[in-house]
Amino acid sequence: MNLKRMFKQNGNGTAGANGAVIHMNDITKIYDTGKIKVEALRGIDLAVKQGEFVAIVGPSGSGKSTLMNLIGCLDTPTGGDYRLRGEQVSGLGRDQLADIRNRRIGFVFQNFNLLPQISAFENVEMPLLFGGVSRKRRRARVTELMEKVNLADRMHHKPTELSGGQMQRVAIARALAMDPDIILADEPTGNLDTSSGTDILSLFEDLWRQGTTMLIITHDPAMAKRAQRTVEIRDGLVN
Ligand SMILES: Nc1ncnc2c1ncn2[C@@H]1O[C@H](COP(=O)(O)OP(=O)(O)O)[C@@H](O)[C@H]1O
Ligand SMILES: [Mg+2]
Repeated sequence: MNLKRMFKQNGNGTAGANGAVIHMNDITKIYDTGKIKVEALRGIDLAVKQGEFVAIVGPSGSGKSTLMNLIGCLDTPTGGDYRLRGEQVSGLGRDQLADIRNRRIGFVFQNFNLLPQISAFENVEMPLLFGGVSRKRRRARVTELMEKVNLADRMHHKPTELSGGQMQRVAIARALAMDPDIILADEPTGNLDTSSGTDILSLFEDLWRQGTTMLIITHDPAMAKRAQRTVEIRDGLVN
């Protein structure tokens, strides 16, 4: 795929050009820790279409999490061009990025990242609260999501009262709350036993069939095999 040519054909890249949800061109990321500079990404070209299921693989330290943080607008690139659904995100401010994250992206992390003090229900409700959704609609939506991830009977449990696989399903319900364009997952089965990992994988497949764009960083060969396409990162570059 020649991204540079695609860019030329699309002029300044109107929204949804070529159906691309994610459009990255020559993205670099340098971590400047004072003493040393780490060139984590050295010129990434990546296009992901609406409805694709993409696995990102590569050795530890190759830049996968850095790439996920940039795609998810949790961090900003040092250089290059990044469009999310045609919208240039490189130049946006903190509040605008937070808004994009909440509305467009559902995050799933290896360590679940649930708030331990509150119930599964309240964890899933959180993005809806931030999104200004009414109490009544929040309740209906959370209930629907807990059913979707097959945890309706554990709704009022705290994360510490759940298994790893159940916690990850809560995290997936939370990721889905605002009906995001993309699910971004970083090693979502990394802390799970094989059987829970298989559950998560089939849940992802269901979501993908229902139209969600899936971008999953994984070491799990079973997961990579189910994806439509694998992108390999090595030394900060797409291999
Ligand atoms: N916050 C940071 N500050 C400095 N260096 C970092 C930071 N995060 C990651 N790195 C470095 O960037 C490179 C890529 O890391 P990362 O994206 O976490 O790789 P992966 O997820 O593939 O294991 C590594 O050399 C790592 O040490
Ligand atoms: Mg990582």
